[in-house]
Amino acid sequence: MVIEPPTEKIKVSKAGSLRGEITLPGDKSISHRAVIIGALAKGKVRISGLSSGEDNQRTITAFKQMGVDIARERDGDLRIQGKGLFALKEPAQVIDAGNSGTTMRLLTGLLSGQKFFSILSGDTSLNQRPMKRVIEPLSMMGAQIWGRGGGNFAPLAITGRNLKAIRYELPVASAQVKSAVILAGLYAEGITEVKEPSFTRDHTERMLAYFGVDLERERNAVRVQGGREWEGKEVIVPGDISSAAFFIVAATIIPHSEITIRGTGMNPARTGFLEILRQMGASIEIANKREVSGEPVADIVVRSSRLQGREIRGEMIPKAIDEIPILAIAATCAEGETVIRDAGELRVKETDRIKAIVSELRRFGVSSRGPVA
Ligand code: S3P
Repeated sequence: MVIEPPTEKIKVSKAGSLRGEITLPGDKSISHRAVIIGALAKGKVRISGLSSGEDNQRTITAFKQMGVDIARERDGDLRIQGKGLFALKEPAQVIDAGNSGTTMRLLTGLLSGQKFFSILSGDTSLNQRPMKRVIEPLSMMGAQIWGRGGGNFAPLAITGRNLKAIRYELPVASAQVKSAVILAGLYAEGITEVKEPSFTRDHTERMLAYFGVDLERERNAVRVQGGREWEGKEVIVPGDISSAAFFIVAATIIPHSEITIRGTGMNPARTGFLEILRQMGASIEIANKREVSGEPVADIVVRSSRLQGREIRGEMIPKAIDEIPILAIAATCAEGETVIRDAGELRVKETDRIKAIVSELRRFGVSSRGPVA
């Protein structure tokens, strides 16, 4: 299936100021984990606040293809009749991950440990994104995975095998790769350990722990014991902090604005852009902190303020990986220069985000320096 970009034109007029309160749709990354870990639970799972985006629908459809009973209730909640770890069935068709890297990489981990054959494919963009990073550790666990380009690109063909536990140090900071190994580790004999070079979103670890799976976590390492099952329960998905980022930047740069964003996920590996914006001079208050289904959640109050350019680099990059494009917009309104370094990973996202930021901003007359093409 080819999904065409929207063709309708949208006319945007200059806003006077932004004022009010909003609640955003559910977090995309957490929604994927809720569906995957919910489908592997034994018994009923109810998920409220789930993102209704295309990427999450791909994950839901994949589990339906593997025989899991999943339905949307009238109130929008998702009901899953979890089958446990060992009752998925061989999908009769290719699993189409569309544009969703999270669906493809996490499911590659999961499918490696099944007792059946499966094929994962995606759209033109996803089938050009690097998959060796997941295939390498999974092959060390005994997985049999074939792909185009010497095994680096989807479509991927997977023959499920009995997996063995490994200790693995990730060469790139990637929550998707970490999660793929953890999910395969649920099927492996022994204790699988994953170490990461810098802290990335830990939604998989938190969701498993919320369902009662015994995970050991220590600094940059996580360990999981294979073969343990868990029961179904209710999950509430918090508002998407990556979507909130657009409103936060808008309220910061548009004079006389004040907005409150309620019930937003505040996972510490996702809030890097808030720290960066604050260091640039933004007025961002965090109120009503609480925990919901194992994730930190809060309300965010933003008032307009003057920004100063700054350097963004190193460990800060993985914590703001999806917000660098909108931070670039904030940078255009800041006094002085903003420098972004160590962000090469942005080139292998759905698009080359560095190229996209620079070429789009140039059209608005913004100047930039550095390697772009
Ligand atoms: C995601 C991890 C990140 C992020 C992506 C969602 C996830 O990708 O950019 O939008 O849900 O685990 P990487 O793991 O490739 O850094």
